[in-house]
Amino acid sequence: MNALAQLQLAERPSKSDLAIPMARPSVGPAELAAVNRVFESNWLGSGPVADRFSMRVAEEIGAAHVVAVDSGTAALHSAMTALGLGPGDEVIVPSMTFVSTIQAIVSAGAVPVFCEVLADTMNMDVRDAERRISPRTRALLPVHYGGEPCDLDSVLDLAARYRLKVVEDAAHAFGSSYKGRPIGCHGDIVCFSFDPIKNITCGLGGAAATNDDEIAGRLRIATNVGIDPLSVNHAGAGPQQYAITGAGLRYRMSDVNAAIGLTQLGRMAEFRRQKLSVVERYDQAFAAVPQVALLQRNLLETFPFSYVIRVLDGSRDDLRQSLSEQSIGSAVQFFPNHLQPFFARFHAELPRTEQLFSEVVNLPLYAGLTDENVDTVIAAVQSFFGRASQA
Ligand SMILES: Cc1ncc(COP(=O)(O)O)c(C=O)c1O
Repeated sequence: MNALAQLQLAERPSKSDLAIPMARPSVGPAELAAVNRVFESNWLGSGPVADRFSMRVAEEIGAAHVVAVDSGTAALHSAMTALGLGPGDEVIVPSMTFVSTIQAIVSAGAVPVFCEVLADTMNMDVRDAERRISPRTRALLPVHYGGEPCDLDSVLDLAARYRLKVVEDAAHAFGSSYKGRPIGCHGDIVCFSFDPIKNITCGLGGAAATNDDEIAGRLRIATNVGIDPLSVNHAGAGPQQYAITGAGLRYRMSDVNAAIGLTQLGRMAEFRRQKLSVVERYDQAFAAVPQVALLQRNLLETFPFSYVIRVLDGSRDDLRQSLSEQSIGSAVQFFPNHLQPFFARFHAELPRTEQLFSEVVNLPLYAGLTDENVDTVIAAVQSFFGRASQA
């Protein structure tokens, strides 16, 4: 490594140095022991532990098929491949999402058509999505922002009326449900992320769920470099060991990551309980702050991934600066993708999204946040706005 690179590494501030970061994984000795067992088995790639993880996730969400992959991004990209979406096809998607949602569409060669989100949930505005449908539209890609399910009845109804596929970006929503049924068993394909700060983590990981046998077969090919798993000749010594029957990349989850995920599945109820209690305390405290609007959440059904407020008086960035000075992390999820240089060619007018982007801020939320941490965050936000309203 050259001297400049070394210097940059040394100087890069680490988000985990903050006294209260915005997010943090909850992993410990149980996850480490599970990883150790995988090491001892000598099978580090995708194998029996990854298969077990897929089965446990399928049970959890009530889906017929779950394909475990190495990231949420891979799940989304494989979903595009499995549905045969490509050049000329349009996919309607909120601009207010993590870039992976959009890159999955673009990497497949398809066209993202950006739509607005609703101010009270930051989820897809389905009426606005309908206005953007064209003869080339093939799919809807709603995002369950912050873990709060979008209006799936309206999404599925719109899809049925225009014969569109539905791919759900449920990166934030593992463990949430919609009208009593878990997220994961509604759309044609539902994509989850298990990255370090998600509701449960695999280290890095993701999954694509479907109830359709044929789509499941195509997902397995798309995530396995195009090898049809049904064609693999495990015993034979012939020259052709397998058949390539479609496009695909190496996306399958490793047993190392699956071992972490399996352990986390057992801790999920506890994580949810802890995060819900923080959300309830924040909601109660911030409901009384006039400069702040809360997002609407149905806490009976939501496993909250993040805690986002809207700052209505234009002081969002000053609030973040003030929190940072007190060693409290925050973030802005998300910078609208239609404003990113690489996506400028997919031009869209999205005034509401741009306004909401200027207002939103994520406050710390993770299992393991102590009561004292929560008091500190609440006091910091209240005192910031107390000062602001006196100014
Ligand atoms: C909304 C959304 N979609 C997709 C992803 C991609 O997931 P991963 O990081 O596992 O690739 C993320 C991850 O942060 C996300 O927030």
